[in-house]
Amino acid sequence: MSVIAAANWDEWVAKAAAMLRANRIEIDGCRYTAPATSPTANPAYVHQFLWDSCFHALAYRWFDLAMARDELRALVAAQLQDGPDAGMIPHMISRRGGSEQLWGRPDHSLITQPPLIAVTAMLLHADAPDVPFLAELYPALCAYHAWFDRRRDPDGDGLICLIHPWESGWDASPRWDRAMGLPCDVAHEQGARARAELAPRLVELGCDAGALLRAGSYCVEPVDYNAIRAADLEALGEMAAALDRPQEAMEWGGRAARVREAFQRKMVRDGSPYDLDGADEQPIVQESAAQFIALFGGCLTEAQAERLAAQLRQPRHWPRFPVPTSPTDAPAFVPDQYWRGNVWLSVNWLIYMGLRRYGYVALASELAERSLALVAQSGFWEYYHPLTGQGLGSTPQSWSAIVLDMLGRERGIEPPRQA
Ligand code: GLC
Repeated sequence: MSVIAAANWDEWVAKAAAMLRANRIEIDGCRYTAPATSPTANPAYVHQFLWDSCFHALAYRWFDLAMARDELRALVAAQLQDGPDAGMIPHMISRRGGSEQLWGRPDHSLITQPPLIAVTAMLLHADAPDVPFLAELYPALCAYHAWFDRRRDPDGDGLICLIHPWESGWDASPRWDRAMGLPCDVAHEQGARARAELAPRLVELGCDAGALLRAGSYCVEPVDYNAIRAADLEALGEMAAALDRPQEAMEWGGRAARVREAFQRKMVRDGSPYDLDGADEQPIVQESAAQFIALFGGCLTEAQAERLAAQLRQPRHWPRFPVPTSPTDAPAFVPDQYWRGNVWLSVNWLIYMGLRRYGYVALASELAERSLALVAQSGFWEYYHPLTGQGLGSTPQSWSAIVLDMLGRERGIEPPRQA
């Protein structure tokens, strides 16, 4: 029998709930869930991380709606209010301090992460409508997306560029080696040092994407990031509609369409999506699972999606535990090295939702099946070995609870409608 069919829903909820509760932190009137709190985890993982909190909220919505909403509230509470980066929501929020060394200030970083907050809020709202909650988030999310346009689109084409690999959420991916000036067989420590050294350089140049581009600093336009942004703009339009602001709903929808149009025009080559080098907009030739996340943002034609779904079924992308961030035959594939060919359930969820969006429901179910099998076998780890399923990085890692969302959807479970 399949793992999904055999799973005891209540037991999975209890397991995820206990794990998330153990990583929960209350501070300064905010509640959030840390990525990991175990003594052996990266000490930075006690802070709040932007896209992690979105995945946590999507898991919480199955059993604790109040906490799901608080997770997002805590993110927007950290939004920058002043200065050139007003509107930005930091990728890491360190309410207990800890950002001084890298960012010159104690309480947060000066870069962001994949914008999934509107998407998450609208997924919560779809099953448990809460207009006042949307009204609470809406102005902050409008300012956040205005910030992207103002500060992260120096050529004004609608595609966002990143100024640090940490912004992508795929910190050490081989996708960034060239832009970081690193060799393709870079050792983990060397890459980690280069990323840490880049942070204060960004601060020196005022985190200004245009200035950084001119200075030849890391600057890329990733496929997955821009697809996620298109989805988030679309969700912001839906949020405006739910708040009875039809004009704004249309405007945000138009902005999402503009991202998709630029995506097609610039990122799709010979039918496949490519990350672009920010300096010359040439494709970054480094195959990765990020291409499948284009589906999440509705950035592909039906024919392109068909081709991508066929590619996903190839054993190089679909080993025993899919989807490795680099295909198994890529020169840069190192299955047990951080972001260089492992399975991350955050990435799997984005691919899963993208497949469903385009109607590849059976393939999505198979991905949910293998993702749940991974957690059933190994527990809630930060990431996993795609060939053996061995857990890697730290444990228990909160965001792997996102399998609960896949399980709930596959089993047609009704999420609670009220907190
Ligand atoms: C690592 C990951 C990043 C994640 C963070 C907290 O830095 O690369 O994507 O947000 O850990 O889990």
